[in-house]
Amino acid sequence: MKYRKFRDGAQVSQVGLGCMRLPIVDGDTAHIDEKKAEEMVLYAVENGVNYFDSAYAYHGKMSEKFVGKVVKNNNLRDKVYLATKSPTWLVREHNTYYTLFEEQLDNLQTDYVDFYLMHSLGAASWRNALKSDPLPFLDAIKQEGRARRIGFSFHDNLPAFKQIVDAYDWDFCQIQLNYMDENYQAGMKGLAYAAQKGLPVVVMEPLKGGQLASILTPQMQQILDENSVSLSLAGLGLKYLFDKPEVGCVLSGASNLAQLKENIEMASSADVGELRENEKKVIEELKAFYNARTKVPCTGCLYCIDDCPQRIPINSIFSMYNNMYIYDNPESSRVQFAMNVPDKRRPSACQDCGICEEKCPQGIAVRRELKIAQERLEVKE
Ligand SMILES: NC(=O)c1ccc[n+]([C@@H]2O[C@H](COP(=O)([O-])OP(=O)(O)OC[C@H]3O[C@@H](n4cnc5c(N)ncnc54)[C@H](OP(=O)(O)O)[C@@H]3O)[C@@H](O)[C@H]2O)c1
Repeated sequence: MKYRKFRDGAQVSQVGLGCMRLPIVDGDTAHIDEKKAEEMVLYAVENGVNYFDSAYAYHGKMSEKFVGKVVKNNNLRDKVYLATKSPTWLVREHNTYYTLFEEQLDNLQTDYVDFYLMHSLGAASWRNALKSDPLPFLDAIKQEGRARRIGFSFHDNLPAFKQIVDAYDWDFCQIQLNYMDENYQAGMKGLAYAAQKGLPVVVMEPLKGGQLASILTPQMQQILDENSVSLSLAGLGLKYLFDKPEVGCVLSGASNLAQLKENIEMASSADVGELRENEKKVIEELKAFYNARTKVPCTGCLYCIDDCPQRIPINSIFSMYNNMYIYDNPESSRVQFAMNVPDKRRPSACQDCGICEEKCPQGIAVRRELKIAQERLEVKE
């Protein structure tokens, strides 16, 4: 494993394990397959991964509990950095920050976290969070040693990113970055802005929630072959990030052990400045390929799902809709839609409350796109 030095001297593995897409049972995100997930955590630690990224909200509030249990049972606390996030959207009054933090420490079975983040900030959520005066709370938990480093994760545009970076003496931040998102959200300019301020950056969604790894049409394979690139798409996506000196740690959202092994292998070999010219060329060609085909830039983070009164499987519908175009195989998506999405969960059941759009970190016009997706997915040819 290769490590990157944060400004306080912390040596962080250049790949961290995202604990948001752990293996689950029967498709229930709140039911972590603990045996498989524990195997992944132990493999990660044995192979040098020391950064574990959880959040109050992940896996229906079960992610922190799972991580806490595995770390405790295997006596790993002094081998790992535990990162977790404050669900700022649940906070209406100052003391709730403390109540939630205590609950998180209990969940994690520890008396301190190494990296504590305000979760999913953007211009509006930052304004809202400020109403409950979080900064004295953040100062206090850091002074008490109960949160060793304070940061924020971010999903909004570049001006909002700069505003939040400048608003507090953060120890680190977390942004979405991959080769398709260079000019999206904080993007490359945000990465440079943070670096210029000496702010370590943790990267999330390095494979755009899996979209840059799992798609392999004959045309894409041809792009790889013609440029003599034998890396997998996942490997290439990660290598692109490890190439950048400003990146502190790349969170891998691996959802099984095989993926994790591959990602750790890449993190153990790739380094700054090692992306080859032919790999850069492939990335440019892949960008053009995806740009031409993707309809909705949904990353499947599931933030929209929790409060949808109709429990519409928004991310699955967008994935089916996108795949119609990316794979040139609309029939497969239409069959999936017909078989897996009952009438009461279809976009036509939407009550137009718009909560999904407030929650969507990608700024997708969810309601409008869902309607279009349904039209396309229901076409009979
Ligand atoms: N703070 C925030 O607002 C926020 C938001 C999003 C994420 N995060 C954090 O960042 C972490 C990383 O983001 P992410 O989960 O979106 O990461 P990601 O790496 O972009 O996507 C993860 C998905 O990529 C696919 N994948 C990963 N490795 C692969 C491999 N070697 N081969 C083939 N497919 C592979 C898997 O998809 P399949 O399962 O489809 O195969 C996996 O579920 C999360 O786990 C979470 O901890 C934070």
